[in-house]
Amino acid sequence: MSRETYPLKVNGEDHEVTVEPDEPLLWVLRDHLRLTGAKYGCGEGRCGACMVMIDGTARHSCRVAIASVGDGHVETIEGLGVNGGLSPLQEAFKQHTAFGCGFCTPGQIVTATALLRSEPNPDRNRIIRAMNGNLCRCAAYPNILAAIESVADKTSGKDGS
Ligand code: FES
Repeated sequence: MSRETYPLKVNGEDHEVTVEPDEPLLWVLRDHLRLTGAKYGCGEGRCGACMVMIDGTARHSCRVAIASVGDGHVETIEGLGVNGGLSPLQEAFKQHTAFGCGFCTPGQIVTATALLRSEPNPDRNRIIRAMNGNLCRCAAYPNILAAIESVADKTSGKDGS
């Protein structure tokens, strides 16, 4: 297969990459753009370590061929900060120690961010369903859930904020 040049918008910045059409987006981000927040776990769309958003939808970047991205806007964990600091959800993960080794954390936060953007106040069952594809080898699931719920609570004003 021959290499082609593809325009790629990532975290609001325009890039061009020259790769084979079936090159997974994960490797384009990591090897060509040096955005290493998305991780390689299984390579089969099963673990969620590689999650990014494309036009606001959480996608497994290990299973997205660069040729299929088109003019979609890719957002990675590196682009989620607010005003040079952590996003509210990133801050919540820190406050709730919602990680063990941290390998899965970018993927967890990307998936949860996509959920909260589309559904600002999901209930516990909805959060669990949405996060079902994000595995954590350290089993920090209760802390991850608490972190996401704390942000969902804030958006609904339940905590008085
Ligand atoms: Fe993509 Fe596991 S590396 S889902």
